[in-house]
Amino acid sequence: MFNDRSTPLSLLLTRRSGKPRDMVAPGPTAGQVATILRVAARVPDHGKLSPWRFVTIAADRRAAFGDMLVAAYVAERPEAREREIDEVRAFAHQAPALVVVLSRVDPASKIPPWEQELSAGAATGYLVAAASAAGFVAGWLTGWAAYSPDVIAALGEPGDRIAGFVFIGSPGRDLEERPRPDLAEIVRAW
Ligand SMILES: Cc1cc2nc3c(=O)[nH]c(=O)nc-3n(C[C@H](O)[C@H](O)[C@H](O)COP(=O)(O)O)c2cc1C
Repeated sequence: MFNDRSTPLSLLLTRRSGKPRDMVAPGPTAGQVATILRVAARVPDHGKLSPWRFVTIAADRRAAFGDMLVAAYVAERPEAREREIDEVRAFAHQAPALVVVLSRVDPASKIPPWEQELSAGAATGYLVAAASAAGFVAGWLTGWAAYSPDVIAALGEPGDRIAGFVFIGSPGRDLEERPRPDLAEIVRAW
């Protein structure tokens, strides 16, 4: 059983992602998204810098988001074929809810950039787990858009990086387990 919500530990032990393209309604309400983001913002954060930002993209903004992605894609690849462009647009329309997580490093801080970036990754992980705790599935994607300067400029401020696009919804098909690492391979006593 996936995302067994009977106890916090059972959820963490059974949590798994959904594929954004398979996600269907219902998604989280605006209030549930706010709760999920409060969890993400409680992540460990050395120096209390909040080196992350969350950008919600509501249902009525998805078409504009898709237009922005396509414009960025075509600017980078003027020879893009129609099929590729359709895929880029389809990315924007997946799942009932979408949050973009930005990593915002303060280069003047005495906290090393690496630690600030780790906090952004952890915030994204908390966001994914909180979405599961709230009764949904989440999918953390990157892809070309996460590295596109035009997409970053449209969503954030200079210097920001995209930690991920987190899609949230209900699974439209059964979730399948993937192989998990054998603890014997990744843990050793020192
Ligand atoms: C930084 C980051 C970026 C990812 N980007 C993608 C992606 O672009 N496409 C994809 O299929 N999975 C991507 N994944 C993997 C999925 O988010 C997820 O980890 C995977 O489907 C396994 O799901 P699980 O949460 O059940 O282990 C990414 C994961 C991370 C941490």
